[in-house]
Amino acid sequence: MYKSFYSLKRNPFEITPDPSFLFPTRRHNEALASLYYGVRRHKGFVVLTGEVGTGKTLVLRCLLQLFKQNNDVAYAYIFNGRLSPVEFLQYVASDFGLPASGKNKGELLLELGGYVISRAQRKLTTVLVVDEAHHLSADILEEIRLLTNLETAHDKLLQILLVGQPELDDKLDSVGLRQLKQRIALRSRLEPLDANETRGYIERRLQLAGSSSLGHELFPIETIADIYQHSRGIPRLINTICENALIAGYARQARRITPDIIDDIAVDFRLGVVHQLHAEEPKVMGEETDFRLAAKTLLDLVSHLQKPLDELERRQAVTTRASKHEPYI
Ligand SMILES: Nc1ncnc2c1ncn2[C@@H]1O[C@H](COP(=O)(O)OP(=O)(O)OP(=O)(O)O)[C@@H](O)[C@H]1O
Ligand SMILES: [Mg+2]
Repeated sequence: MYKSFYSLKRNPFEITPDPSFLFPTRRHNEALASLYYGVRRHKGFVVLTGEVGTGKTLVLRCLLQLFKQNNDVAYAYIFNGRLSPVEFLQYVASDFGLPASGKNKGELLLELGGYVISRAQRKLTTVLVVDEAHHLSADILEEIRLLTNLETAHDKLLQILLVGQPELDDKLDSVGLRQLKQRIALRSRLEPLDANETRGYIERRLQLAGSSSLGHELFPIETIADIYQHSRGIPRLINTICENALIAGYARQARRITPDIIDDIAVDFRLGVVHQLHAEEPKVMGEETDFRLAAKTLLDLVSHLQKPLDELERRQAVTTRASKHEPYI
């Protein structure tokens, strides 16, 4: 309804994680690079954590889109951690297209093992992706540890990505899971956006939604500073605030979203102010308003990834050298 009023071609602030809307911050790039590198180099076990709403599922979806372009990668994507171990294995097997119903745990493990090994023999990559992994029970985490044993002397045959909220870090730090923790090859963390990133994020989403005006005309600098303050840089909250601001702005027939609109929304959504307003002045964005940016985003990803990938390669080489001298942790 507000789209035509603000000359937008689509809704800029949907809260579903849509890869075409990715705003590649350094953190998001690094997280994506770490997952991609871990799978591509067969590192075995990779973990990504981050606060609620910081973009973990979005990063995963971007990654899965990249894999769809590669015929040599098959993945099972699990986003419901609240399963029993057998249900979990059944889910994984059936997501790989294997017969799973009515099978017991032993049969499922055999089925999965055979599948993973036969793919590895054909030099194909197999990935188990678990989103919302902070919900996984200790029993399932133990099954996952056993799956990490699918390896040869030179290669991990199943790549496992665990993605979840910070409680996942706590779980992996627990004494009972130290064997699993030792197998983690790469670990990264998403953080909320800073004030400048928040500005870039909002402007980018407006561009991708086809806004014909420059972002700062619709959301002036002081409004964006207010959004940052109320959202604390958490992308999902930024979306909720901005979406509601556009609805309220349209209701008032306001051409610009002013800070008082944002403050009203913050009260309605009971967003307590936690951070102080940053004094820095957000810079005005460039003039890019091309709607085709959305389609280009994913292509850009690969080049965005290159720098973090090089960095990871370098760090990995250092860690591998160092770990040769490290005692058992
Ligand atoms: N870098 C980004 N660029 C564009 N949109 C983003 C970015 N990061 C997060 N978002 C958006 O923020 C919202 C929340 O992201 P997402 O669902 O991925 O968070 P999450 O970390 O998985 O949250 P939860 O812990 O609740 O599962 C989505 O609309 C997503 O598209
Ligand atoms: Mg998520």
